[in-house]
Amino acid sequence: MATVAIEGMQWGDEGKGKVTDYFASRAEIVVRSQGGNNAGHSIEHHGVRYALQLLPSGILNKGVVNVLADGMVINPIALLDEIKRLKGQGVEEFNIKISNRASVLLPYHIELDRVREAALGKAKIGTTGKGIGPCYEDKASRCGLRMGDLLEEEYLIERLESSLAIKNRELAAFGGKQFTVQEVMDALKEAREYLAPYICDTSVFLRNAVKDGKKICFEGAQGALLCITHGTYPYVTSSSPLATAIPVNTGLPLTAIDDVVGIMKAYSTRVGEGPFPTELDGDIAKAIRDKGHEYGTVTKRPRRVGWLDVPQLKYVAGITGIKHVCLMLLDVLDVVDEIKICTEYKINGKVIDYIPSTVMELARVEPTYISVPSWKEDISGITSYDALPENCKAYIAKIEELTGTEICMVSVGPDKDATIIRKEMF
Ligand code: GDP
Ligand code: IMO
Ligand code: MG
Repeated sequence: MATVAIEGMQWGDEGKGKVTDYFASRAEIVVRSQGGNNAGHSIEHHGVRYALQLLPSGILNKGVVNVLADGMVINPIALLDEIKRLKGQGVEEFNIKISNRASVLLPYHIELDRVREAALGKAKIGTTGKGIGPCYEDKASRCGLRMGDLLEEEYLIERLESSLAIKNRELAAFGGKQFTVQEVMDALKEAREYLAPYICDTSVFLRNAVKDGKKICFEGAQGALLCITHGTYPYVTSSSPLATAIPVNTGLPLTAIDDVVGIMKAYSTRVGEGPFPTELDGDIAKAIRDKGHEYGTVTKRPRRVGWLDVPQLKYVAGITGIKHVCLMLLDVLDVVDEIKICTEYKINGKVIDYIPSTVMELARVEPTYISVPSWKEDISGITSYDALPENCKAYIAKIEELTGTEICMVSVGPDKDATIIRKEMF
């Protein structure tokens, strides 16, 4: 495979960063194509932990070009902070290319995110508070700014003037802070200067790279169920994390992606609001949350925890055509005696094996479960599939059978080395 796309199959935080970093050791280019710093991708190398939000997860691999492509929403100030933070952790090479078409996320988007969530009260989405929705709205309503605009001071000021004329009215209506053009220009000054040399037409670069047969890994952010169209709307993000959205978000033809690898946690998690049919509470949820360190990378919120949900996984595999899967955080499930898997839903007495389109229906589904025994032993040091406990192998086989996918990689710890390969995918 010359190119591979990574897609989160649940509600995000499946371990995409770890897999991207793993693939990056043999990639020439790693590409983030949508979302912004709502993403939080953790990578561990020999006990050192790196938290990436806007930078692609190829950044720790020397020689890899890391592209922030067209469909992203980029907060330049946050990007500069992230670069400084990684420099502080000893990362020296920032071989990055930033799309001139990517949207610019500005301080007023963050303020709009805050005041809107507050206004929604109980109906809030539970966003990451990074301004993602308001920035994508501006893109769609054509009052947004693009990274290329940062290079043209006069035009940038004009765009800010027209954008703020609308945004400040909205902020005033919500009682939020309003912004002047000068204030925004001052806030952007350092980031504009620092980032300018990296801003270019990444779609031309990527089309040439594909033509030249370069090895490219497209890193997913968020998860399929957070897709604005196919996710659990309205409890979703404002873009599409599906691998099938990558061509539009990078300027590449459909044929540019050779395979899509689905990233699946051995159980389910979700941050923010919205229905979650297999959600757990009580001691089991706490045990899994504690062992899996299930607290958000971005917001530090405790993640909601539940069992694996086959109707949901089949729905996602069907939308994108996922056949190959990385099963992540399997080591976590040794804290329970019995593991449950939701095999189907019942709604109004009818059996369904997909996600209904409305959250009202999804909130009403009754999951049907089967149980399998856990292995109750530490598997985090195991490096070969054959050496895994029998109950562990049986759980993997069951997931493959129920979802119709092939589990090619099994992850048994956060570190790069805690990875078992059953079949090379890239
Ligand atoms: P992403 O957003 O999909 O990149 O995932 P996150 O980084 O937000 O969350 C996944 C978390 O699980 C991170 O803290 C990883 O370090 C950690 N992790 C990844 N794979 C494994 C694994 O196999 N076992 C354990 N215990 N932790 C893992
Ligand atoms: P990674 O890439 C988990 C969720 C938020 C909220 C909803 C909308 O680390 O998997 P937003 O700020 O995007 O408007 O929030 O989407 N969300 C994520 N949840 N992982 C993510 O990214 C997420 N990005 C957004 O919690 O429910
Ligand atoms: Mg994450």
